[in-house]
Amino acid sequence: MAFLEVKNLEAYYGKAQALKGVSFSVEKGECIGIVGPNGAGKSTLLDSIIGLTHWRGQITFDGVDLHGLPPRKIIKLGIGYAPERGNLFPFMNVKDNLLVGAYLAREKIGENFRAVFEMLSLLDERQKQQAGTLSGGERQMLSLGRAWMSDPRLLLLDEPTLGLAPIIISKIAVTIEDLKNRGATIIIAEQNVSFTAAHAERLYLLERGTLTMGGTPEELKGEEYVRKTYFGI
Ligand SMILES: Nc1ncnc2c1ncn2[C@@H]1O[C@H](COP(=O)(O)OP(=O)(O)OP(=O)(O)O)[C@@H](O)[C@H]1O
Ligand SMILES: [Mg+2]
Repeated sequence: MAFLEVKNLEAYYGKAQALKGVSFSVEKGECIGIVGPNGAGKSTLLDSIIGLTHWRGQITFDGVDLHGLPPRKIIKLGIGYAPERGNLFPFMNVKDNLLVGAYLAREKIGENFRAVFEMLSLLDERQKQQAGTLSGGERQMLSLGRAWMSDPRLLLLDEPTLGLAPIIISKIAVTIEDLKNRGATIIIAEQNVSFTAAHAERLYLLERGTLTMGGTPEELKGEEYVRKTYFGI
């Protein structure tokens, strides 16, 4: 069984179905990308893995069935989430936001602080700054750092490049490579297909709640439809 197994996942908001029979798996140490347009269901997919939606089907993480588990328990199992737009605590400073991420991994706080400050030195310099006064890119970094503080065995990143300038995107790119070198298993949900293709070993296309295609970035680039629609070439 794979590290993360998702089978026939269906998620609903009231009567509206946001995910329709989504199946895929992630092996330990892999970085995979879920790419697709606005409203495709990318955030819903990550929200479902962390226990924030009503879903049917099967999700198992390291052999544990996640159905019905509250987010707190899922995070405790070792899944870290950097949600879209961060969801930080705006009136708390950078350091305290990181500490919130650490509350389920208290024994490794020192080690994880060191790792986060090494990867994202800006957070080290801004420890005392209120999160609400950070720029968009700085918030994105804080969100990533906070997810890492929970000492995750699987890291979910939702739109890590959303609205960021190219120079900040390259900073996030370096951090993702850094996380991979530290053995992280990562799922990136992104609209930015070129960015995701540069880091993920495998990509899945999510369109209107359905995974329509999957493969290595090269395989997907080999498909004319994907090249035209997502790579603009
Ligand atoms: N809380 C909610 N209540 C009702 N409908 C929702 C809710 N959240 C998402 N949806 C709907 O579910 C569908 C999938 O949304 P989702 O946010 O997962 O897409 P996405 O791929 O993350 O899009 P984006 O790239 O814009 O972030 C959309 O049609 C959206 O309108
Ligand atoms: Mg989204």
